[in-house]
Formats: sequence, C-alpha cells, structure tokens
Amino acid sequence: MRSVPSIIAIDGPAASGKSTLGRRLADELGYLFFDTGVMYRAVTWLALQRGLDVNDEAAVSALAESMQIDVLPASKPDGRVCDVIVEGKDITWAVRRPEVDRNVSIVAAYREVRRAMTEQQRRIGLRGKVVMVGRDIGTVVLPEADLKIYLDASAPERALRRHKENKALGTDLGYDTILDTVLQRDRIDSTREVAPLRAAQDAVVIDSDKLSADEVFEQVRSLCE
Ligand code: CDP
Repeated sequence: MRSVPSIIAIDGPAASGKSTLGRRLADELGYLFFDTGVMYRAVTWLALQRGLDVNDEAAVSALAESMQIDVLPASKPDGRVCDVIVEGKDITWAVRRPEVDRNVSIVAAYREVRRAMTEQQRRIGLRGKVVMVGRDIGTVVLPEADLKIYLDASAPERALRRHKENKALGTDLGYDTILDTVLQRDRIDSTREVAPLRAAQDAVVIDSDKLSADEVFEQVRSLCE
C-alpha cells in the first residue's frame, strides 16, 4: 500500500493556481502550507522600501542575508494565508503590490538571495507534513519530496486569473498590464542561471487551462491516497 506523501512540492509559473491548490491540500491533510514566493517578495519589498536599486546585486544580496523574515500563522481573518513580518511590520498585503510584482523576479534571480532563502525553506520542509509551493521546490529546495506537482496554464489564462484576484483586492491594473508582467516574470524565472523554473523529471505535470480549481484539487488528492 502507498503511504500518504509527507513532503509535497508544487511548482509552476506565476498565477497558475499553486497557492489555491497548495492551501487546500494542506488543509485537507492537516499539513503546513508554505508559500516560498512570499520570501522573495519580502526581500523585494524591503529593498524598494530602503530605496535600493534592485539591479544592484551586491546590495540586494547583503540585505537578503541580514534581514529576518517571519512567516507566521494568520493573525487576522482578512483572507490572508499567513502573516509576513519584516522588521516588526506586517507586510502580508504590501508584498502583493504591483511594484513588488514588477521587481521580484530580478531579485529572485540572484544567487546569494536564493542561497539564503533556500536554506530556510529546506529546514522547514524537511520536518515533513508540508505542502511547499514555489518555482524550484521539486528541483532544488526539496528534491526528495514524495510528491511533486508542476502546475501549468497558458499565459492569457493566468493573467485573467490574476486580474480577477487583483480586482478583488482593489488593485485593478488592467488585463494587458498584468499579462505583460506575467510574461516578463516567466521569462526571467525560466531563463535564470540559478534554480530556473522547470518541472522536475519526476513531477506530475497538470495543465489547468481547462480545469476548475476543484478539478485540479481532485486530481492531486487522488495522487495522495
Ligand atoms: O503568486 P505568484 O505565482 O504570482 O508569485 P509567487 O509564487 O509569489 O513568486 C513571486 C516570484 O518569486 C516569482 O516570480 C519568482 O521570481 C520568485 N520565486 C522563486 O524564484 N522561487 C520560488 N521558490 C518562489 C518564488
């Protein structure tokens, strides 16, 4: 008999539905849900806050190595999955702002930034009973994961989903602008030298273009039984 996977890795491009799937799966299994994207977003937020040039790799790397990012259980019922705290500030929603979206892939491509984040993520993941979501979880952070999912969808479909999400959050940038940002992030994430976005060889690839969130969830749940 197969046992329920203890370490579950979900990777895929921007707005492919990784967080929705991961959160639901973690709830169902009683596991920790960890969205690694918030860590790269937190570094980007602080760099912008400090007025650093995000193209200054040395300065951004030094910041990432020295800063503390706390990802804690949600303290408010406002739709958040967790609290993201940096320097005593609750930046949970601030990390979703368009300026962070526009710059996060530049920051996430830096070797030393990734080293600092990956170390922390791996420590958390190896405890098990975890659903970890990102770009390089199955390939680099937790290659020993028991179940790896690569969740894909076409860029127009993903931009549409992000557009809806943004509207619900009150930041309506327009579909075309969102599609541009999504395409630009995909390009940087998948062509970077360190830990590029790609499906692990042993990942189950799911194309969610024509699937509802419920259908994706059911497919993955059947893999956990
Ligand atoms: O939610 P969305 O898919 O738009 O983005 P995210 O998962 O919050 O990730 C934001 C950015 O962080 C990505 O575009 C990547 O540049 C970076 N990232 C990464 O490089 N590696 C990860 N494991 C997670 C995120």
